[in-house]
Amino acid sequence: MEYTRKTIATALIGLFLTTPVAFAGNIETGKQLAFDRKKGNCLACHKIEGGEQTGTIGPPLVMMKLRYPDHKLLWKKIYDSTADNPNSVMPPFGRHGIFTDDELESIVDFIETL
Ligand code: HEC
Repeated sequence: MEYTRKTIATALIGLFLTTPVAFAGNIETGKQLAFDRKKGNCLACHKIEGGEQTGTIGPPLVMMKLRYPDHKLLWKKIYDSTADNPNSVMPPFGRHGIFTDDELESIVDFIETL
């Protein structure tokens, strides 16, 4: 009985955790991941509209669609910023597995709205 209850609870938690992935490429999810201090924590270094207590280590993320018209290039930049700038202090979010490809897709979709 106890075992069954635990199994059901685990299954429900699993369902809950995987739900955001089901909405891959979702702007709101991307914003949450970017602002989450334990995940992207982009605000530690970047000024982003809507964010509080933002850092200035990185450039403000503004007019992104204009500066990065190519979705793939922006994706690559966030996946591994050291690829085009070996001295970059920005964590290589994709290469280090901080974000899954789906999560990265949502973040890029959000960044493109800035
Ligand atoms: C530890 C600080 C730090 C964190 C955290 C960080 N970045 Fe950066 N980021 C930088 C720096 C420094 C640069 C500029 C140097 C470079 O191009 O790598 C940069 C550059 C960028 C650029 C290119 C900007 C331009 O004007 O060309 C993008 C896009 C970007 N970051 C997105 C993000 C996103 C999205 C996150 C969160 C998921 C994030 N960064 C987290 C430091 C950071």
